[in-house]
Amino acid sequence: MRVDGPGVVTTDDGRRFVVLALSDGLRVVDARCPHNGGPLEEGWVREDRVLVCPWHWYRFDLDTGACDTSPQHVLRVHPVREIDGVTYADVGEPARAMSWSERLRAHARE
Ligand code: FES
Repeated sequence: MRVDGPGVVTTDDGRRFVVLALSDGLRVVDARCPHNGGPLEEGWVREDRVLVCPWHWYRFDLDTGACDTSPQHVLRVHPVREIDGVTYADVGEPARAMSWSERLRAHARE
């Protein structure tokens, strides 16, 4: 996915990502908070390393995606590369839809 600068990027398949400009370059993260789907494009960057979700203030490390508020919630941070002067983020393939039994098992683990 091509990245032109800070903001929100939507892929052709409808996935949304937030592009953040830090002092050492761009970070691309999922736009939905892994806790409860909060809009991370409305979050705050703190200490040039941490993204704070606006809904419940969970804090995510912008290098690893680790959450210091709730370690089981990890934000997906996507690799960014520059090729011939153009910046790209590797956001991978869209997630496969879970079957009902997979959803029930995942819910039971939460
Ligand atoms: S939805 Fe982001 S911290 Fe709860």
